Amino acid sequence: MKILVIGGTGFISSHLVRLLMDRGHAVSAFTRGKRDVDPGLQNGVTWIRGDRDSRGDLESVAKDGRYDVVYDMVAYEAAHSQEAARVFRGRVGRFVHCSTISVYMVADKVRCPITEDQDKGPLMPFFPRNPFGMDYGIKKRACERVLWEAHDDRLFSVSVLRPAYVSGPGDPASRDWFWVERILDGGPLLVPGSGDIVFQQVFVDDVAGMFAELPERSGTAGKAYNVAGEEIFSLNDYLHVLGELVGRPVTLVHLDQEDFDALDFSQSPDGDVFTFNVRRTAVFSLDRIKRDLGYRPTPFRDYMKRTIEWWTTARRAHSNGYARRAEELETIRRLTS
Ligand SMILES: NC(=O)c1ccc[n+]([C@@H]2O[C@H](COP(=O)([O-])OP(=O)(O)OC[C@H]3O[C@@H](n4cnc5c(N)ncnc54)[C@H](OP(=O)(O)O)[C@@H]3O)[C@@H](O)[C@H]2O)c1
Repeated sequence: MKILVIGGTGFISSHLVRLLMDRGHAVSAFTRGKRDVDPGLQNGVTWIRGDRDSRGDLESVAKDGRYDVVYDMVAYEAAHSQEAARVFRGRVGRFVHCSTISVYMVADKVRCPITEDQDKGPLMPFFPRNPFGMDYGIKKRACERVLWEAHDDRLFSVSVLRPAYVSGPGDPASRDWFWVERILDGGPLLVPGSGDIVFQQVFVDDVAGMFAELPERSGTAGKAYNVAGEEIFSLNDYLHVLGELVGRPVTLVHLDQEDFDALDFSQSPDGDVFTFNVRRTAVFSLDRIKRDLGYRPTPFRDYMKRTIEWWTTARRAHSNGYARRAEELETIRRLTS
């Protein structure tokens, strides 16, 4: 198939480009060229330089000829999806949009397991520390709204994947590394709240695999799919499993959520510093993706082992907030003395 990926050098999209190439497709990828292309992907992919925010750039790619599939990996605002729908209408067999489970997590109420039809519930009151990203989730909802309105079986056939927290070697969000680095230093871990609230992650290869698979399966047009790992961990369970994988027992010290949130080092201008400070339960139904796409997620322990190896060998930078680790330890000392 002739395929265009908008993005292509990102965490998820680079895995997708590789998979599509391996499957023998003719792949083009559209980026601004700010990030380096993985040396293994330099040949065999047509790299198109352009900025989706610069009017005309995407349109000239669309005018180059009809694509069987276009993947939009970097639509963050309604205007992005509007422009994509405008320029690719009548020029694409399937338009696959990368959304997120945050479209649910900005809702006032969710019922677990969260099915794909729960994406439009009334919004919760604006909560800037929503760990799923309040602005982000609202804007990703707006992208989807534009696409579902534009969906047309013949002229602009849309499918959507909604990944949970994506992990794996190369993860720029470094969520797991936050905890792994602290476990490795041997000190106790300060845990927000009870640590009992559950969440789901997903392996980057599994996400890319489902993106690659989707257009090849019948019955997937006009549908959205959750993509998440099978394991449902509380923060406490997750930390104990990380300890096992790292080979060090972990000591958890809990602090009431409100008191925790009041700690200066618990937030930065970018939001929460502590990862998986989830505050609300998030369990996603995988029935649809298993049925329609034959989804079989990689076990957490398998991919996390590989991810930890990557963090401890290839990656050198400290995790988010590690510069203030001494203050975490001092808080723990006060709580336990
Ligand atoms: N990571 C997670 O946990 C998670 C969870 C759920 C959903 N998602 C979704 O995953 C997607 C992100 O995928 P990713 O990890 O592959 O992205 P990424 O790592 O942020 O990479 C973005 C890619 O898009 C290109 N790009 C960025 N801005 C562009 C522009 N204006 N015009 C053209 N190209 C542009 C970048 O290259 P240049 O900079 O060189 O242009 C790069 O290739 C988003 O849709 C996000 O909502 C992520």
